[in-house]
Amino acid sequence: MSKQKMIKAPRGTYDILPDQSYKWAWISDKFKQVAASFNYLELVTPIFESAQLFERSVGDQTDIIEKEMYKFKDRKGRLLALRPEGTAPVVRSYIENNLRAGNSISKLFYNGPMFRYDRPQKGRYRQFYQYGIEYIGTADPFADAEVILFSDYLMSGLGLEKYRLEINSIGCSLCSEQYNKALVTYFQRYTDQLCSDCQKRIKNNPKRLLDCKVPNCKSLADNAPSMLDYLDEKCQEHFEQLKSHLDSLDVDYIVNPKIVRGLDYYNRTAFEIIDIATEAQTALLGGGRYDNLIEFLGGKDTPAIGMAGGIERLIAAMEKENLPFGEQPKPDIYVINNDISTKKEAMLVTAKLRKNGLKVEFEIEKNSFNKQFKAALKSGANFTAIIGEDEKNTDTVTIKNLRKEEQSRYKNDEIVAIMNEKCKKHR
Ligand code: HAM
Repeated sequence: MSKQKMIKAPRGTYDILPDQSYKWAWISDKFKQVAASFNYLELVTPIFESAQLFERSVGDQTDIIEKEMYKFKDRKGRLLALRPEGTAPVVRSYIENNLRAGNSISKLFYNGPMFRYDRPQKGRYRQFYQYGIEYIGTADPFADAEVILFSDYLMSGLGLEKYRLEINSIGCSLCSEQYNKALVTYFQRYTDQLCSDCQKRIKNNPKRLLDCKVPNCKSLADNAPSMLDYLDEKCQEHFEQLKSHLDSLDVDYIVNPKIVRGLDYYNRTAFEIIDIATEAQTALLGGGRYDNLIEFLGGKDTPAIGMAGGIERLIAAMEKENLPFGEQPKPDIYVINNDISTKKEAMLVTAKLRKNGLKVEFEIEKNSFNKQFKAALKSGANFTAIIGEDEKNTDTVTIKNLRKEEQSRYKNDEIVAIMNEKCKKHR
């Protein structure tokens, strides 16, 4: 076979290398711990869905649907999409599996890869890992406060300090109608100064003008009318209650009337947690209320709220703040077969220790004692188990504590109990 050109990972994707993967595990574990303390259960949905699910829920004039969705036909011509986000699949599954039956409330979490054909840059990937929660079945502002509190606990539980919680209310369809009119009147005066996307947004989705990153549009948006002046009485009351709950819970936040979110299913509460350690001020997570989505996708009228965040952005923020990710996994014991003739005995001791729950590395390639010993030190193991000719003949194992430079010999049939005890002390 002739040598071919190397194949690289697709643009915007990356490998989570073995010396980094523990960071993903650390964050996923922390997220699952917070989810358990708030009594959320995991829901795992497919990585691809019918493309229509996202087109209908996220909104066909959003960037995600217009520019970023990985859409393809399968061999039978079905139009599918790699999921760009997790809320629509959760709602689809909630309706399809009738999760409402017998439960007035469903609290669900998920964690996995999402796909968006975004312009790759730091913190923006085409495949990224997203954790998220959905609190389904209540319109009470206590639920909004809980979802925001969850987000805040996760950030502070990971040790982060340089973040800011921003909240807003984007009202309901009734308030939006009035507000959209006010926005159109305001921005129409500047149509020729707007970017080409915003010129379309003025007609299709005026609120999205507030979210444009183009500097000129951004400065025009600074003086645009505020959504908060257009909230009707009920939406205003909902927002006031949410703020009062957050105040009682001592959650720090600012009200940012420019948060509109990049997906169309939201109403009332919208919020983001912003990384303030860098100038880019990217969103660590975002969420909001989506009271109409479940009915819109064919379910019963069921209010809901949720949030999701990217693991890559959390890792970058934690690295900037020099925060720990727990320890990289390492073996408890490194088994050294002092002599080639004792390799089989070493293999059997390894198997016995592993079977009893210990983390054990067994040296296969290197035969010199010195080389094996160096490898043991490099592995980070606390102990070596040495099996040479002497040990083989007396059915014993020598255990060396690599931290204390102590060593003793033990009977082979006692080794599991002894090592369990010794390793427990080191954990
Ligand atoms: P989203 O704001 O589109 O919301 O995404 C949530 C988070 O995912 C972002 O704040 C960011 O941390 C991360 N993220 C998004 N795109 C990328 C990317 N290309 N690369 C890296 N990270 C990214 C949603 O997805 C909603 N489903 C959230 C939600 C749940 N709303 C209600 N429930």
